[in-house]
Amino acid sequence: MHILIVEDDAITRHLLENKLVQLGYTVDSAQNGTEAWAKLNSAPFDMVISDWSMPEMDGLELFKRIRNADFKRYIYLILVTAHNTKGDIVSGLVSGADDYITKPINMEEFRARVEIGAKIVQLERKATDRYNYIKKNYFQTIHMFTNLIEVFDEELGGHCRRVGELSLKLAKLHPDVSENDLPIVEAAGLLHDIGMIGLPSGLLSKKRTEMNGDERQLYLSHPVSGEIILNEIDLLRPIAKLVRAHHEQYNGRGFPDGLDNSEIPLLAKIVSAASVYDNIVHKGKVSLENIPDSLQRLRGYQLDPDITDHLMEINLEKIQEEERKEFFELEIDDLQEGMMLAGNIRTKTGAFVMPANTQLTNNGIEKLKNCRKIASIGNKTFVYKWSVRG
Ligand SMILES: [Fe+2]
Repeated sequence: MHILIVEDDAITRHLLENKLVQLGYTVDSAQNGTEAWAKLNSAPFDMVISDWSMPEMDGLELFKRIRNADFKRYIYLILVTAHNTKGDIVSGLVSGADDYITKPINMEEFRARVEIGAKIVQLERKATDRYNYIKKNYFQTIHMFTNLIEVFDEELGGHCRRVGELSLKLAKLHPDVSENDLPIVEAAGLLHDIGMIGLPSGLLSKKRTEMNGDERQLYLSHPVSGEIILNEIDLLRPIAKLVRAHHEQYNGRGFPDGLDNSEIPLLAKIVSAASVYDNIVHKGKVSLENIPDSLQRLRGYQLDPDITDHLMEINLEKIQEEERKEFFELEIDDLQEGMMLAGNIRTKTGAFVMPANTQLTNNGIEKLKNCRKIASIGNKTFVYKWSVRG
């Protein structure tokens, strides 16, 4: 247990420090809030015991800062104060203090309050460990299910993994999606087609127009089957309802429930859009340049308009990424300042001369020309197309 004592009066500070060391705690001290704040930002503390009235930054201001900051663990705060009216105590607690001790300090009371704080800190640490354990198990369960889909059908597994990734990207672009929703939407993307497990394998590769009546019924049942599978685990229930809704459409013509746009959960709309996009790219084999046309046809009909616009943004980024990957092969003599190398340059014996992604300067080009003169590197090298002017 690491405790920080903040007190401007040297005698009181040493007295409290010695008492805590006697009780077996690891103790550090600061003379005011400013010094304490610097220490809190350079080492982890479990508890801060601070005087209220101090020069520079007082105890209330320090506690407010601690509560507004994003420390990885909860810090238990005890305010030491000579102000002991009801109003003073309320102000102290409102600033974020967990407890208070009034001056003059009774050392037995001080010891008891610190020990209560230490117990609460330990309980909080245990609860956090438990929470992290459950969280880890949650993600392991989702990945186990994703692996299961992949074992059943490799292509379907690949589709689900890509939809998980794209759903997360789309969710991050949407202003109405909170930070807490991100793992849920990613998991829903990864598992959206889990209800396909068990369908005849020939059915997966068929278009809906090629299915006979029975096959079509089976296919249409997969969102509900997915919901039933996931509902078995309490933690996965928020995902189950999204999986059920991943084939609902903006225009109300989706399945299984034919929900209106206003009834479809936002996260399900995101998963749906991610899945449609992935099918256009991988099943429809539509090139990235032609995807905006396909999306435009679905915008406001099958897909939510805002989410479709976000898909367009992501698609544009992909196009730019692909363009960045394209490169020319140029003679060393034709290199110009500003071009970026698309591959490492090594001597013929393999020694490293210049790494890929170096933006060439005139000095760099001279160095390469000199290397070429002594025949230690070849005549040609690769540069990214986008970095070549004119
Ligand atoms: Fe589906």
